[in-house]
Formats: sequence, structure tokens, C-alpha cells
Amino acid sequence: MPGDIRGEILRTPTSSSTMPSLVVRMLEELQVDAGNRVLEIGTGTGYSTGLLCHRLGEDLVTSVEVDAEVSSRASAALGSCNYFPELVVGDGLAGHKDGAPYDRLVATCGVLEVPHAWIEQTAPGGVILATLCGWLYASELARLTVGEDGVARGRLLGGQISFMLARPQLPPLLGMLPDLDDGEERETATGADVLNNWTARFVTQLAVPGAQRLTMERNGRTEDVLVDVGSGSWAAVHEDGGRWLVRQGGPERLWDRVEEQLGRWYAAGAPELEEFTVTVTPEGQTVRW
Ligand SMILES: C[S@@+](CC[C@H](N)C(=O)[O-])C[C@H]1O[C@@H](n2cnc3c(N)ncnc32)[C@H](O)[C@@H]1O
Repeated sequence: MPGDIRGEILRTPTSSSTMPSLVVRMLEELQVDAGNRVLEIGTGTGYSTGLLCHRLGEDLVTSVEVDAEVSSRASAALGSCNYFPELVVGDGLAGHKDGAPYDRLVATCGVLEVPHAWIEQTAPGGVILATLCGWLYASELARLTVGEDGVARGRLLGGQISFMLARPQLPPLLGMLPDLDDGEERETATGADVLNNWTARFVTQLAVPGAQRLTMERNGRTEDVLVDVGSGSWAAVHEDGGRWLVRQGGPERLWDRVEEQLGRWYAAGAPELEEFTVTVTPEGQTVRW
């Protein structure tokens, strides 16, 4: 029953102690050259903005932060270091058209998909660096180059880089869970333990982008549950005497999709994330291996 379920959403937030080294890695991967105009999404403390100002000069740096208070604190911190870049308060998923075109765009919050506005605002040959995330909380840094044709192409870089998701893309509240006893049960060769592997989880979330994962103790056993709030679909997987069983309900069979997707990935030799390519067109983002 929904009322007596104790679940824990599995998340991998970036701790503040690892932030400076992550930011430095991001800026190294951004490959800035003198004279580059940079748009940063996620001003945060202003640390990375300050490093960009130091490297390029404040006139070439614009940073967008969704939280007005956070932006104002960053402004004070940067000012105390004598840096006065353009700081914008707003949703960075829309970029900042007024300063376009940029040579580099770096997002220090994660995104589900690279917004096309970023591509439109980046000059041909320019670079977009962002962490691609999903609601199963496996993420990876992607570096894309914008082509003359308005398409951005690139690869994942590896390193299991993880940032907080951009605000409008946070997962919806789970609310009342569906009745997890009311579904079709069958055996599955794909155990839920596969989701403890970062790369397999990344691959899985591409197949079920609307799904969130919970682990819960129910009926004296541990169940891994995927819930897609949008469609109302769910899958609950547990181990029973050495075999795995899945129960599924709602309009879509989430675990069928997971099995199919992981099957294709295994058949390709289970490539590492560094071997994945990313293409973003006006129609959307495609990730391939
Ligand atoms: C990991 S922190 C940024 C770290 C920062 N670069 C630094 O050096 O401190 C992520 C920031 O992105 C901001 N953020 C989240 N969603 C955003 C959005 N849609 N547009 C702009 N900023 C966003 C958060 O408020 C947060 O301050």
C-alpha cells in the first residue's frame, strides 16, 4: 500500500568539498583561448566565473544564475576580487541571447538535454560543455562543437562528473505511489543490481527517461522500483531464491524497455561512456554508442 512504503531516492549530489576540483576540470575541458567570449550557466558561488574572468577578462564573461540571492552573493564575492562580469538572473536553459554569439558555453548545472537555444547562441566552431544527467542520477560530461549547419556534435568525456540538475528539469514529486502489488509478474534475466553500475544506469535512463528509482523494504524483501510519474507506469524488481522477478503496471512496460536497451548495449560489447557520441539538432538530442 502506498501509505506504508518507505523509499529512498538514490541520488549522487556533488558535495561542496569536491566542487572546486570539478569546476577546474570543467574549465580545463572547455579549452578556452584568449579572446573567447564565454557564457556560463550556473553562477553558484562565482568561483568558476572568477576563474574565467582571471583567464579571459571580465568583459568576455557572462554568467546566468536562476536564483537571485545566489547571484547577488556571487556578485559581492566577485566584486571583492575586483571582477565585474555580466551576471544575469534567469533560467540559463534559455541561454542569454543579448550577448550572443559566444565561443564557449559551459553549464555547471546538469541538463537532461542540451537546449537548442545554446546551440543557436554559440558561434560555428564554438564549444558547448555540459553534464548530461537523468533521473536515475548517472551523468557524464559532454563536449560538443557547433557546426555551420546549426547541429552540435561531440562525445562524452568520462569521469562520472555529476552536478545538480538545472532547476526546471528536476524530477516531479513522486506523490502517491501506485499499488505495487497490482501488476503482472514474471522472471527476468536482468537483475536490479545492474542499476548499481554507473554506465548501465546511464544507458538505462536513456531508455526510460521519465523513470525515477526507489529502493524499499516491502513484504520482508528489498525491492527496486522504477516509477514514471508522467505515464503512471512502474516496475518493481526483487530477488527470490537466486532468480530475479519483475512486476510491472501502468500503460508502459518499463522493465521490458530496460532489458531491451541493456541487451543492445551488452551486444555492442558494453562500451564505456567515453565511446558515446552526442548529436543535438533542432529536433532534439541523440546519444549513441
Ligand atoms: C553546481 S552549482 C554551480 C557552481 C558554480 N559554477 C561555482 O563555481 O560555484 C549549480 C548552480 O546552478 C544553478 N542553476 C540551477 N538551475 C539553473 C538554471 N536553469 N539556470 C541557471 N542556473 C541554474 C544553481 O542555482 C546553482 O547555483
